[in-house]
Amino acid sequence: MNPALLQRVVATFGAAFDAAPTLITRAPGRVNLIGEHTDYNDGFVLPCAIDYHTLVAARARDDPTVRVVAADFANARDEFRLDQPIGHRMDDAWANYVRGVFVMLQERGLPLRGADLAIAGDIPQGAGLSSSASLELAIGQAVKALQGFDELSATDLALIAQRAENRFVGCNCGIMDQLISARGKQGHALLIDCRSLQATAVHLPDNVAVMIVHSRVRRGLVDSEYNLRRQQCEAAARHYGVKALRDVDLPTLLARSAGLDPVVFRRARHIVTENQRTLDAAQALARNELPRLGVLMAQSHSSMRDDFGITVPAIDRLVEILQASIGAHGGARMTGGGFGGCVVALLPEASVAAARDAVARHYRSPDGESGGVHVCHAASGVETLNSAGAWP
Ligand code: GLA
Repeated sequence: MNPALLQRVVATFGAAFDAAPTLITRAPGRVNLIGEHTDYNDGFVLPCAIDYHTLVAARARDDPTVRVVAADFANARDEFRLDQPIGHRMDDAWANYVRGVFVMLQERGLPLRGADLAIAGDIPQGAGLSSSASLELAIGQAVKALQGFDELSATDLALIAQRAENRFVGCNCGIMDQLISARGKQGHALLIDCRSLQATAVHLPDNVAVMIVHSRVRRGLVDSEYNLRRQQCEAAARHYGVKALRDVDLPTLLARSAGLDPVVFRRARHIVTENQRTLDAAQALARNELPRLGVLMAQSHSSMRDDFGITVPAIDRLVEILQASIGAHGGARMTGGGFGGCVVALLPEASVAAARDAVARHYRSPDGESGGVHVCHAASGVETLNSAGAWP
């Protein structure tokens, strides 16, 4: 737990509302080890929650007003009423994630009361580490805890958060980010079947480090390109006459490709091969077979670059630098939605210093910045702390 972050969210709450919160929730960001863009194809992903969080300090109100203050946006404020239609904020994007969660909780027919909420986090924003999913989960958990909605499971909260993003914020994302922020397990990655939402915990071997390197490339065009990839995948599924690309195997993909647009074919090939790589990688991780994991991560990156078209040259370069430093002892690939953001590496603890050094020496973003290296630990999913920040 980051004590400074806890202090900041409590202090922000106190300054904004002149009172103490009755509870605090926290939800982690995530890094995806492998299985990219497979979630909205009903496929497999292998993310872990990371020890960077969004915290929400909360107190119930007796009226239908919701007041929100965001420490990370210069203490920007939002206020809306639950007995009136909840519209969009044009100026403050962060506020729409909060509003969206309330709207989706309302749509579920839950009798919502007002609340005072303060938000603070330490997940690098715009880096593709799911700071927005963690905000949605921390808000959902706060409402659940304030109002005693015990019937809402972690998976329910994840689905509500995803709906908020799809239908209120306007990004057609899959379920991965919200589900891992809801259900992450300390020391483990989760192999998630995005059709059944069943998750299998895969222990991260003790001597293995999860390194995240921020490329400092801003993720431009990410929403439009993301939604386009999704449409291309859906077009491919229609071509093969299946519900989702999860239902196509490689021999079928190749045998029945006639008439399919060549770009759409390449998009589909990424999904079909990535699903298999993800299952193979979960097995390799469980067996501590780092060389095999490294091969699968390298294949995943090439497939994202050549078939799915979501990497950028600086990211490709960063992956090459890490792969050269790590050699056969682990692997590296771009992680997340693409077009910038972060690279993830799995490597022996003993190789971390050399990899860090290689990034410092050889990598610069197009704007001349160095990469931001974080060695992180797999964290547990969303939870409620009491107002003193101790476990309940
Ligand atoms: C974003 C989305 C996820 C997933 C990844 C790509 O993070 O929010 O649902 O599709 O991109 O794997």
